[in-house]
Amino acid sequence: MNLTIPEYILSIKPYKPGKPLEELEREYGIKDSIKLASNENPLGPSPRAISAMEAAMSNLHRYPDGSGYLLINKLAETLGVSPGQIVLGNGSDDVIGMLARAYLRAGNEAVMTAPSFLMYEIFVRSAGATPVFVPLKSLAVDLEAMLAAITPRTRMIFLNNPNNPTGTFITKDEFTELLSRLPDNIVVVLDEAYIEFAQAPECVNGLELVQNSRPLTVLRTFSKIYGLAGIRIGYGIMPSEMASLLNRIRQPFNVNSLAQIGAIAALDDDEFLNKTKNLIHEELGFMQDNLKKIGIDFFPTQANFFLIDVKGDADIVFDMMLREGVIVRSMASYGYPKYIRVNAGLRKENIRFLNALEKVLKARRVLSR
Ligand SMILES: Cc1ncc(COP(=O)(O)O)c(C=O)c1O
Repeated sequence: MNLTIPEYILSIKPYKPGKPLEELEREYGIKDSIKLASNENPLGPSPRAISAMEAAMSNLHRYPDGSGYLLINKLAETLGVSPGQIVLGNGSDDVIGMLARAYLRAGNEAVMTAPSFLMYEIFVRSAGATPVFVPLKSLAVDLEAMLAAITPRTRMIFLNNPNNPTGTFITKDEFTELLSRLPDNIVVVLDEAYIEFAQAPECVNGLELVQNSRPLTVLRTFSKIYGLAGIRIGYGIMPSEMASLLNRIRQPFNVNSLAQIGAIAALDDDEFLNKTKNLIHEELGFMQDNLKKIGIDFFPTQANFFLIDVKGDADIVFDMMLREGVIVRSMASYGYPKYIRVNAGLRKENIRFLNALEKVLKARRVLSR
């Protein structure tokens, strides 16, 4: 083929998702493997969402409601914002893509941390714009350095709170100061995929800061605490002027009917939400207490995952863990060659993980036998 491909597309490295369980079992011939690599809800989907989606199956010959009317109104009521400030996405990834398409073009820059969630870079490059990376400081966002990276070409800044993959957080004071010092022609994207897990009282809640007069977008998702990653549903809360713009370029049926129905039901499932939060906090404590006992270093977190220092090649540890039937994430491609990331699972999964990690680190002589 003699096709001309723009350099900015060629510069994109494909997103590498957490290894699926089925793939591991196929490749290594292992049964009963476990995955603690994609920060999913170990309890499964919200039971209310499952019932609502099952009941809606017989209507799947119809197109979804392209305006997402019922879900948008339910979200508006739940979050205390106006329906015109919400844009639904096929996962929050989809909203990131719309923001990049709407506001970025060649010659523009978008500031983000290094490392950060890989889709920011992919969507920025897809729009022909340039990602500008600002290293984290002690695993946390360095807001002064982010501000210092702003140039007349900057059109967007991405912040992720609590931060993936490090689990650190931004305080309300830090974030409001950042907003006050940013020029108002820069779109601020505050990605709150894990906000429901945060416990620190000083952690910023972006929702309180969305105003029609300020170009701030807060991203939320049903993929994590609501357990609906597989059906793809997320949203952005933003000034209504920005939402109208995104709705011009949004695919008409970007959010499928089951996702809309499941999400509405999940929003009413407080019991499931609380059960998930309690489980995650208890299991994070369990995992970290045991890591301490074994003598393995890890970092504190406000999310449902955390980083572990394996004191050696994380890619090798990742591979050895796979052979034990445990999928974690190596942080080597994120710039942390000696760290792995793991999310809290069910108690039996966490025990399996702890045993496997101890075995692997003993075999690698990081721990004494
Ligand atoms: C920081 C962050 N933002 C966004 C997403 C994407 O969420 P969604 O499944 O809603 O597209 C993830 C998923 O891993 C994430 O970690």
